[in-house]
Amino acid sequence: MAVRNIQKAIQVKETILKDTPDAKVDVMELDLSSMASIRNFAAKYRSLGLPLHILINNAGVLSPQFKLSKDNIELHFATNHLGHFLLTNLLLETMKTTSYEQNTEGRIINVSSEGHRFAYSGHLSDYMNNELSYSSIYAYGLSKLANILHANELARLLKGAATTCYLALNPQVKGVTGEYFVDSNFAKPSLRAKDQELAKELWEFSMGLTSSK
Ligand SMILES: NC(=O)c1ccc[n+]([C@@H]2O[C@H](COP(=O)([O-])OP(=O)(O)OC[C@H]3O[C@@H](n4cnc5c(N)ncnc54)[C@H](OP(=O)(O)O)[C@@H]3O)[C@@H](O)[C@H]2O)c1
Repeated sequence: MAVRNIQKAIQVKETILKDTPDAKVDVMELDLSSMASIRNFAAKYRSLGLPLHILINNAGVLSPQFKLSKDNIELHFATNHLGHFLLTNLLLETMKTTSYEQNTEGRIINVSSEGHRFAYSGHLSDYMNNELSYSSIYAYGLSKLANILHANELARLLKGAATTCYLALNPQVKGVTGEYFVDSNFAKPSLRAKDQELAKELWEFSMGLTSSK
């Protein structure tokens, strides 16, 4: 559990252990409204050499008053989105290493809200730290919209390597060879790509071009 209030978390930990004595629960300090705290947390997590299978970006604030974070960023945006954005980036390599070493699929969950439908419209810079145009509903909505956009972009960026990693690591493809995959599934290539004569011709042609080099 990554928390800003250690005392509260220790009470939660004790409650969990009462119900499930075998549970393994660790508590570490993390204030998502402070980039320094996030960097400290990530550095400590990495230095402990802990695996990371699932990251749940759950923390959220809803503040009636306009507030700034320790880094002078509007508090909803800072805590609900930017903190999770930075934390995810700092832990991504750890997640990849865990997936690779333990042959598992990592998972990042951003907890958004139906409130994302009520976000400020227009450019971020127009209202980001603008106290005069502040609305808690719109500020919260924007941070929850950011949770969804962040997840989408992360998925798009990570998908580029997903099929390759699947083929490199997944035991389900043991013994499978010479097949074509799209989005981690068997797929049919074009007719020309299945032409054995053309494959032989290309082989000879390539051998000819490379043998004298
Ligand atoms: N409740 C709903 O109806 C609802 C609906 C849709 C979506 N959600 C989303 O669900 C998530 C959880 O909300 P909840 O309803 O369970 O609210 P909650 O009871 O207020 O819990 C929010 C948690 O976020 C933590 N947190 C807040 N600021 C933090 C910071 N700077 N650093 C670290 N932790 C921080 C709080 O820690 P402390 O214990 O120290 O305060 C608390 O544990 C949020 O992302 C929220 O937007 C809630």
